[in-house]
Amino acid sequence: MGRASAEIIQENRDYTLFPWSVQGSANPIHLVKGQGVWFWDGDGNKWLDFCSQLINLNIGHQHPRVIAAIKRQADELCFAGPGFATEPRGALGKRLAEVTGLAKAFYTNGGTESNETAMKIARTYTGRRKIISRYRSYHGDTMGSMSAGGDFRRWPVEPGVPGIIRVFDPYCYRCPFGVEVGSCSRQCVTHVEEVIQMEGPQSIAAMIVEGITGTNGLLVPPDDYFPKLRALLDKYGILMIDDEVMAGFGRTGKWLATQHYGIKPDIVTCAKGLTSGYQPLGAVIVSDEIAGYFETNMLWTGLTFSGHPMSCAAAVATLAAYEDEGIFENVALQGAHLAMRLEAMQEKYACVGDVRHKGLFSMLELVRDKKSKEPLAPYAGTSPEMASFNSYLRSKHVYTYLRFNLCFVAPPLIISRVELDHGLDVMEAGLALLDKAITEKGSEQ
Ligand SMILES: Cc1ncc(COP(=O)(O)O)c(C=O)c1O
Repeated sequence: MGRASAEIIQENRDYTLFPWSVQGSANPIHLVKGQGVWFWDGDGNKWLDFCSQLINLNIGHQHPRVIAAIKRQADELCFAGPGFATEPRGALGKRLAEVTGLAKAFYTNGGTESNETAMKIARTYTGRRKIISRYRSYHGDTMGSMSAGGDFRRWPVEPGVPGIIRVFDPYCYRCPFGVEVGSCSRQCVTHVEEVIQMEGPQSIAAMIVEGITGTNGLLVPPDDYFPKLRALLDKYGILMIDDEVMAGFGRTGKWLATQHYGIKPDIVTCAKGLTSGYQPLGAVIVSDEIAGYFETNMLWTGLTFSGHPMSCAAAVATLAAYEDEGIFENVALQGAHLAMRLEAMQEKYACVGDVRHKGLFSMLELVRDKKSKEPLAPYAGTSPEMASFNSYLRSKHVYTYLRFNLCFVAPPLIISRVELDHGLDVMEAGLALLDKAITEKGSEQ
């Protein structure tokens, strides 16, 4: 007989540290089994995985094709040093070049290392030092990427690396420039030019942007944002680093979120959906020009596990699954239904201030009052209402990602209509309870 679930959780708590948590309050679910969009906890409860673990498990749990590829690779060759050539390493590089329209890939262990590497490559290639990033962004947890992101998790470790300049985001629901998207002149781009001029264009190597901002609010930009930004960066010889760690590999229905906007970045960084989490892997994919530069110049970067054959084999199989199994087509189909239901929720519930979505990448922004847009929890904080909404979803075994006043819906890309509706029905019941709680609180005051 296996060990009791409570004992396993306790051992985890006694001997391991949980991320982004006050350890005494960490309350992990004991995950024992997964299948498709579902997972089971140690007490036998079946949960709907409504945020693909950490918005990475794009092909769902236990995909047989990827499991088989990992097993095959393990039998053949478990490890090769980063300076060796292997079959999966080359095959993956070729496929990444094809799907991104870029040239060559450098492999890392995940998203944050990809962004560290991208910034180093941008500095070496341009000979410039500064990096522009946006406030509402997250690029990873290591020192350089954490500094590059604007996310509040940088606060306790600041000062971070020097040379980061932050600008405002295309956050149309709460526009930092106080204008309306229908009639504005895209100050979210034009103010970047002023910042560039004030900082000295010749000192700026790159701007790092998420294809569609994920964790910091699922900010879907106006359609002309990226083309305008691309033209602006080109004007000053500044590279565009497109962080597709969360938005890439079909999450929005295309290989890269920026492909919706008809632009080509100079460098793409990715991880998460690259293997769907079946093995740890990240990649930095560079343009022809940058790859050409490194033909005759040193590439100042290296990692012991770069090009790990087990990870590359998992990625080759994952990319093949996306294509052969019509997964992006499913994103378009279910994404349209999701969009329709989210918009109906915005109409129906007083607490739903805004909904933002692209494919199966979506979020509800919850407010106390639609008119004032007062958030249901402050930036970097929480509130009793958000906590009770989370408890409600968990009591119904719907697992999703809540942050401040944001509730994410980003299920595995293989989700069916019935499964999607199940999760959304539970969510709606929770929203109805939230509306009731807010009204009652309002009438007490
Ligand atoms: C946009 C983005 N970039 C980078 C990262 C960091 O990736 P990792 O946790 O694999 O280091 C994340 C993680 O959520 C992310 O969402």
